[in-house]
Amino acid sequence: MTAPASPAKVRGETILAVDDLVKHFPITRGVLLQRQVGAVRAVDGVSFALHRGETLGIVGESGCGKSTLARLLMRLETPTSGRATLEGRDLLSASGGELRRLRRNMQMVMQDPYTSLNPRMTVGDIIGEPFDIHPDAAPKGSKRGRVQELLDVVGLNPEHVNRYPHQFSGGQRQRIGIARALALRPEVIVCDEPVSALDVSIQAQVINLLEQLQDEFGLSYVFIAHDLSVVRHISDRVAVMYLGRIVEIGTEEEIYERATHPYTQALLSAVPVPDPDARDDAGIIRLTGDVPSPADPPSGCHFRTRCWKAEDICAREDPPTVPRPADPHPSACHFAALRDPPGGV
Ligand SMILES: Nc1ncnc2c1ncn2[C@@H]1O[C@H](COP(=O)(O)OP(=O)(O)O)[C@@H](O)[C@H]1O
Ligand code: SF4
Ligand SMILES: [Mg+2]
Repeated sequence: MTAPASPAKVRGETILAVDDLVKHFPITRGVLLQRQVGAVRAVDGVSFALHRGETLGIVGESGCGKSTLARLLMRLETPTSGRATLEGRDLLSASGGELRRLRRNMQMVMQDPYTSLNPRMTVGDIIGEPFDIHPDAAPKGSKRGRVQELLDVVGLNPEHVNRYPHQFSGGQRQRIGIARALALRPEVIVCDEPVSALDVSIQAQVINLLEQLQDEFGLSYVFIAHDLSVVRHISDRVAVMYLGRIVEIGTEEEIYERATHPYTQALLSAVPVPDPDARDDAGIIRLTGDVPSPADPPSGCHFRTRCWKAEDICAREDPPTVPRPADPHPSACHFAALRDPPGGV
C-alpha cells in the first residue's frame, strides 16, 4: 500500500502532542452534602499530534466536546487524566513561570466575536491587554504603536485604535480577536469555531486572513468547526469527533475522499454541493435519532445507536482509532470500509 501524497508539514515535527486526554464533569445531587451521581464525559480519551506549520481541523456536532478540548489545551479546565506537551514541555502540570511561558506560546480565538470582547474597553486596550499580563513580552517602545501594527496586520484601520467593539461589524470584531491572539507572537493558535457566528460571505474572508497569517508567522492551528465544509479549505488534516472521542483522523484527502467511518461518511453526505448538477440525493445518509447524552454514552462504539452498520460486536467492544485494512488512516470502526460511490453498485 503506498502512502498518500501529503504536504511536508503533515509529516513534520510535532509542536503539540495530546495523549488520551479526558475531562469528566461530575454530576452532583444534594444541597448540603453534594454526592457525585455521575459524570458528563465531555472529552473521553482524545489523542493527536499537531505538526509545526500545520492546520488540524476538528469537526463534530454541537456538544461532542470540542470547546472542552480547546479549554483543556488552554489550561482553562483541569483534565481528569491524560497528557499534553507543547514543544516537548508538559502543558498540564506546568505552573508559575513555566505556565506563563507556555501560555504565551499558545493563544485562542473564540467563537463569538460579540461576547468575547469587553464592550467597555477600546480596541487598543483589548489588543494590548496581553502585554499587561506578560510584561516581558511587551514592546520596548510604544505599546500603542505595536497595537496599530497588529490592527494593520489583520486588515483593520490602525486609526481606529480608540474605538469600541460595538463600532465594528462581526467580521471586524473577529479580526480584533485574531489581533489580540497574535500580540504575544504565539506559535500555536487554537481557533474555537472562529467563523460560526459570521455571515457566510464574511467567513471566507476571515479564513483567508488566518491562512495568510499562518504563512507570514509560521503558525500552527487547531481549527474547530461543527461543519466539514468549513474546515476543508484551511485544514491539512482533519479529526472527526463524536461524543468526546476522535473517531477518524487523516489528511484532507483521506477524510474527504476516503473516509471509512460511517459517522464521517454521514457528515460528508450532508455537506452541500454548490453545483446543482453534481448533487445526488440518493447519496445522502440521513442519521436517525439524537446524539446520546455524554453522561450516559452507549457501551462499545459510541456511535452504534445511530449506525446502520452496527452488529453485536459494536455493543461489546469499543473500536480503537487505528489504521484499518480499508485505508491506512486511523478510524474507530470494526467494519471500516470505503463508501460505495453514490448510486454505485
Ligand atoms: N462546565 C461544565 N460542566 C458540566 N458540563 C459541561 C461543562 N462544559 C461543557 N459541558 C458539557 O460537556 C459536553 C461537551 O460540551 P462542549 O465541549 O461545549 O461541546 P462542543 O464545543 O463540541 O459543542 C456537553 O454535554 C456540555 O453540556
Ligand atoms: S463500530 Fe459498529 S456501530 Fe461503530 S461505527 Fe463501526 S459499524 Fe457502526
Ligand atoms: Mg463549542
